[in-house]
Amino acid sequence: MSRTPFIAGNWKMHGTIAEAEQLVQALLPRVAAAPCDIAVCVPFTALQAVVDSVRGSGVAVYAQNMHHAEKGAFTGEVSAAMLGELDVDGVVLGHSERRQLFGETDKALQLKVPAALDAGLEVILCVGETEDERENGDTERRLRHQVQEGLEKVPAERLGDVVIAYEPIWAIGTGNVATPEQAQDALAFVRALVADRDKEQAERTRILYGGSVKADNAAELLALPDCDGALVGGASLDAEQFAAIVDAAPQR
Ligand code: PGA
Repeated sequence: MSRTPFIAGNWKMHGTIAEAEQLVQALLPRVAAAPCDIAVCVPFTALQAVVDSVRGSGVAVYAQNMHHAEKGAFTGEVSAAMLGELDVDGVVLGHSERRQLFGETDKALQLKVPAALDAGLEVILCVGETEDERENGDTERRLRHQVQEGLEKVPAERLGDVVIAYEPIWAIGTGNVATPEQAQDALAFVRALVADRDKEQAERTRILYGGSVKADNAAELLALPDCDGALVGGASLDAEQFAAIVDAAPQR
């Protein structure tokens, strides 16, 4: 099955409204003819402005977190319905920074992933091992746990709608990109985990690589058989670099 490549830029906590609009204005003309799907994952405060700026361009806008409940006494949280009200297209869930710095658990993700899908949001579910886990031979165990828990309450027929980003934590923001072999092994393993639930859906599932993706290493990663795109952090803050990564996506 051919899967449309998907390049998503994770801006993290970067960008005032003015800076976000500036970045989008620089980006749109550079990706107008791109044959792949593109998203920008934007801080909450700039979501509305970016949604307005990209309207009609085909570029999707994602939030970087949400709460699973529709509403309630959850100070500081934002629901899927609230994101939907802004016309946001999707949400990144379980990024390693949220897991490591803010105590995001697999149990919480078990509720967040189906809640986002039910609310009509697209989902990028992030998984990945630490450097210690890789060195101790625990990469597969870690990925199995994260993928199985994150997808546990997703009905089989919707599994292929969840984009999974494999992001080795040791590669995020470090410049230490995974080798093509390391990336392909993990991406194929993640697809096999989805196939354990449903083989057909696993063929639909788009699996992205993330971690120090740059213009000069993107083509090699994006050509891997099980790589359906990239989740790009630092390089997504530079319109030219991000557009170059988009250009490196193979036409499928
Ligand atoms: P990086 O971040 O590209 O800056 O390594 C990737 C991510 O955190 O999604």
